[in-house]
Amino acid sequence: MQDQIFKEALKHKVFEYITKATDELGLDSYVIGGFVRDFILKRGNAKDIDVVTVGSGIDLAKKVASLLPNKPKVQIFKTYGTAMLRFNDIEVEFVGARKESYKEDSRNPEVSAGTLQDDQDRRDFTINALALSLNAGSFGKLLDPFDGIGDLERKIIKTPLDPDITYSDDPLRMMRAIRFATQLNFTIEKNSLDAITKNAERIKIITRERIVDELNKIMASPVPSIGFLLLEKTGLLNKILPELIALKGVEEVEGQTHKDNFYHTLEVVDNISKHTEDVWLRWAALLHDIGKAPTKKFDKRNGWTFHSHEFVGSKMVYKLFKRLKMPLNNKMKFVQKMVLLSSRPIVLASEVTDSAVRRLIFDAGDDIDSLMTLCEADITTKNPKKFRRYHKNFEIVRQKIKEVEERDRVRNFQPPITGEEIMKTFNLKPCREIGQIKEAIKEAILEGEIPNEYEASYNFMLQKAKDIGLTAQTEI
Ligand code: CTP
Repeated sequence: MQDQIFKEALKHKVFEYITKATDELGLDSYVIGGFVRDFILKRGNAKDIDVVTVGSGIDLAKKVASLLPNKPKVQIFKTYGTAMLRFNDIEVEFVGARKESYKEDSRNPEVSAGTLQDDQDRRDFTINALALSLNAGSFGKLLDPFDGIGDLERKIIKTPLDPDITYSDDPLRMMRAIRFATQLNFTIEKNSLDAITKNAERIKIITRERIVDELNKIMASPVPSIGFLLLEKTGLLNKILPELIALKGVEEVEGQTHKDNFYHTLEVVDNISKHTEDVWLRWAALLHDIGKAPTKKFDKRNGWTFHSHEFVGSKMVYKLFKRLKMPLNNKMKFVQKMVLLSSRPIVLASEVTDSAVRRLIFDAGDDIDSLMTLCEADITTKNPKKFRRYHKNFEIVRQKIKEVEERDRVRNFQPPITGEEIMKTFNLKPCREIGQIKEAIKEAILEGEIPNEYEASYNFMLQKAKDIGLTAQTEI
């Protein structure tokens, strides 16, 4: 019965060829890992297939390639003893079954040939050790020595062997355990969780790029807080994103408290994840309050304050991205911008003036919708009356943004008078006054003193220039 079910998983044409090659070479081959797991979980059609063979993965790959109609190129990774080829929309990786032994300071093991069981033993989780036979005689037969199927049903992340060894051998698996728990909404078994906590220190031997890959997968999950809470609980978060740990806790002075900004932040991330798939906007939600730790102050008159935390936070974004070797490109700038502007719409929600809305549109540009999404997600009050009121105010702000934008077109706006025109009009070489006039025109438009039009801006420029003692060439 089960064999029957799993034949269904192996419908793709490529398996026919792998079976043929396997039998011709007299090998035993299996599809293993994520492909089998995701088939059982009905997680859509996998595009990556991992094939393990008791023998040489490279020889098998070459044989498969020679049988395939498109005769694909085989990419060989000699050091790892693996080979890869593409067939239509599918990428197949071949590896020989192996035993591994690890050294203290590296996640790259010493490898020797082994049996399928050896290979399954060294895998990270029981749910990733499921294998389906690709031999003609047993095609589709499931080999599941650790009851991975049961763990899929019970929704449990568990290691095949002693978790202390599995995680210490390859500490990236600590991140993977938490990532799978988040993606699949599974529970990490207690012994595993204890072993992660015990081995957290070993995360230092993992490259930052790989850590960030896992963080991004956590971030792209439906409820990212599951992952961040597990990272926090196991002590990993403190090593990866200490800026978030610094937001933890509630202080009380003279009976006045502030909210716990760590848990607030996670709520904001979960909220925003219901409204956007954009991981960078989700990152902005995660980091929007990081400036609050270094700016936190208490005084009798004002209570708790976090002055300029948005500005400080946006500077911290750069350092954090750099430390984690994340891209320092326009994605980073977007996150910085969101953090910097994160409190602006909230201020507006109490009093919506045209000029404040124009300024907001001008500063946020094309990112105005993302900013509004962030600010709405930031509403985590448990007071239902306040919750409704804030959301209603944001609806008004959104409406106002639409009206003002339609009328004044200030999104990505360039003042109608260029610096060049100012130079030409007053016969100036580059100097400070040009900037002054340009800034004054922009301010007048944003404040609503003049419309966003050429003629009004030109007249305003003449007036402004007069005020600072310049004369237009045309007037001489
Ligand atoms: N694996 C492992 N330890 C790791 C990485 C991978 O044991 N640190 C094993 C697992 O059996 C895993 C397989 O290699 O299923 C393939 O790894 P990978 O392609 O990275 O992950 P998938 O499980 O396929 O899942 P995803 O594609 O979601 O990353």
